[in-house]
Amino acid sequence: MSQHRYIVGNWKMNGLMADGLQIIQSLTAKCESFKADRASLVVCPPATLLFKLSEKRVPSLPLGIQDCHQEAKGAFTGNIAAPMAKEAGADFAILGHSERRQYHGETDDIIQKKAVAAIGAKMMAIICVGETLEEREGGKALSVLSAQIEKAVPPAANAENTIIAYEPVWAIGTGKTAQSADIQEAHAHIRKQLSAKLGGEGSKISILYGGSVKASNAKEILAVPGVDGALVGGASLNVDEFFDIYRSLP
Ligand code: PGA
Repeated sequence: MSQHRYIVGNWKMNGLMADGLQIIQSLTAKCESFKADRASLVVCPPATLLFKLSEKRVPSLPLGIQDCHQEAKGAFTGNIAAPMAKEAGADFAILGHSERRQYHGETDDIIQKKAVAAIGAKMMAIICVGETLEEREGGKALSVLSAQIEKAVPPAANAENTIIAYEPVWAIGTGKTAQSADIQEAHAHIRKQLSAKLGGEGSKISILYGGSVKASNAKEILAVPGVDGALVGGASLNVDEFFDIYRSLP
């Protein structure tokens, strides 16, 4: 079973319009030299840049939003609904990122509702899961992943509407990456959970690794069995580095 591969850039809260346009223009020039069917390259800028960047990008460089609200509209000051994100140019939505879980109190139940909303708005949900250092050291990493998959992934998830990103919380923005054996074990475990929950569809969903992925370690990480691509934070702000990660796909 071969899953589609993705390299997804998460700019987080970085980039004003001029920076965003420059990155998209440079990536577009590089994209013209690659075949999008090999693997998809996706960029998730701050929501304020989506509309403008979507006018400039090429079809082979889709955009995503970094979160969306679970309701389609209403009195939710400061939030962005999934149909709004879609209209602004997002075809993907990162959901349940550990920074959202940590700073905005997002639970797996809310993340599942957000995923349902994103899928309903015809976006691909990128659902993030991952254990904290304390959970890993306490031998609970795999049970935490099981619970997150069970609760955060909607029953209607399939390979056309959902991607999973395994991001050990302690590896995000820290420069620490998980050992290849641990990544392999976590991805195999997530695959097993997806298949148990979704049957045959669970075996087709792409599972990305995220957490301090950069050009210098991408080759090794992307070669780990069960890794179908990467969710890249800091290194996605540098065009050459981000594209080198894409080129490191085996
Ligand atoms: P990082 O972030 O690559 O900067 O560690 C990854 C992420 O948060 O998605």
